Amino acid sequence: MSGVAAAAADLYPDRRTHVTEPLSSAYRLLEASLVYYRGRPVGTVASLDARAPAENYADCFVRDFVPSAFVFLLDGRGEIVRDFLSLVLRIRDMQEEMEGHHALPRVMPASFRVMNGPEGADELHPDFGDRAIGRVAPVDSMMWWVLLLRAYAQRTGDLGFVRSAEMQRAVRMILNICLRDRFEIFPTLLVPDGSFMIDRRMGVYGHPLEIQALFHGTLRAALELLEPNDPDNATVLDLSAKRLKQLTDYVREYYWLDLARLNAIHRYRTELFGRESENALNIYPESIPDWVTDWLPEDSGYLVGNLGPGRMDFRFFSFGNLLAVILGLADDMQSQLIMDVFEKRWNDLVGMMPVKICYPAMEGREWRLMTGSDPKNIPWSYHNGGNWPCLLWALVAAALATGRDALARRAAEVAGPRLMRDGWPEYYDGRNGRLIGRRANFHQAWSATGFILAAKFLDDPSAPALLGLTRNGAEA
Ligand code: GLC
Repeated sequence: MSGVAAAAADLYPDRRTHVTEPLSSAYRLLEASLVYYRGRPVGTVASLDARAPAENYADCFVRDFVPSAFVFLLDGRGEIVRDFLSLVLRIRDMQEEMEGHHALPRVMPASFRVMNGPEGADELHPDFGDRAIGRVAPVDSMMWWVLLLRAYAQRTGDLGFVRSAEMQRAVRMILNICLRDRFEIFPTLLVPDGSFMIDRRMGVYGHPLEIQALFHGTLRAALELLEPNDPDNATVLDLSAKRLKQLTDYVREYYWLDLARLNAIHRYRTELFGRESENALNIYPESIPDWVTDWLPEDSGYLVGNLGPGRMDFRFFSFGNLLAVILGLADDMQSQLIMDVFEKRWNDLVGMMPVKICYPAMEGREWRLMTGSDPKNIPWSYHNGGNWPCLLWALVAAALATGRDALARRAAEVAGPRLMRDGWPEYYDGRNGRLIGRRANFHQAWSATGFILAAKFLDDPSAPALLGLTRNGAEA
């Protein structure tokens, strides 16, 4: 039995096999999913399912690798994360040399594949969204890259790597893309549809919460990572500090929805001109969907999914809300109230498999118009209201950060045995996540690493902080 498995078994004395067996199974999957470049492990494939519906599930996705990386860091295998960070940066630099692609933004890739050849002849095949299904731009990759660099620095103390000219240049480059002047009056980041974990048309273009939470985390991390005495960093540090403050204030104020705010929106006056307008974004009360009035629990609240001119997306997006709690975009009170929603709407948001990706599902005409009649995103499936075990680590980290240990434990107990028995599926279907996703892969790496991480966090609640996942300093 591994050290983690033994420690986790102590946590659940009467449920030893419920935790230890899934943990061993998850670790076997993690090891089998390792990707090698020139003989060294540099990533993990998204899925080991030979019958996966899309070819790129055999790629290493940047976002899918994040929970693998956190596990490696906590297990003292930081060199894999360092090599991943260097390789992804090299791949990004390669893109500049690719002829015919000059119109692409200089972002980090969504994924890459290593074609192993004879000694020293391994080939790299990246996807910057230029090959992806639907040609979606992976805006979140560069943000996760910065958060991973910070986690690596925090856990290993390898400041030499972080301060190298190469890493400093990369962080500056990423900030330059995010902070560039554009036609916007909001401090949030405007992105195209499907530019993050939800990488298909789902009505998530604009200013989706998940991107804003990652942007907030990226700015905070960059302020720590960039050398303050390097004159090349001065401008970007200054702009980042200002933007962080504006972004945080704006999201906390305008994305927040509780019963008092819902009442206010219900009675909003519209068409108001001027700086002091109570309805600055001109949200029409008629746009409040029926479900939200009944669903929003008394004495709790959450950050809405998206916000723009005349547009509030009232859907509850779990990952965005959980990241806002973990990284401190939500303030202390808001974080407590967000976790209350998970407690009070447990069946909807956790049910038989943590965690529902977004609630509720879009149906009928709305589904047709917003997804383009996407058969993979039918109601209560996949991105459209499916349950994703890869989000378990975030639920557990957020619960521990807000003192909800029992909630964290309950979620992990629901997930472990079932995931192992079902062969680590990618997602589940149904209102309460009762069915294995219709087109879900099996042996999905982040379903396994999400569970390993959850067990590690429960075992040692200081583990998230070792990875730089803290709310500290967020109130600044
Ligand atoms: C799907 C998910 C995306 C993930 C990829 C690989 O496209 O929507 O978030 O990165 O599969 O697992």
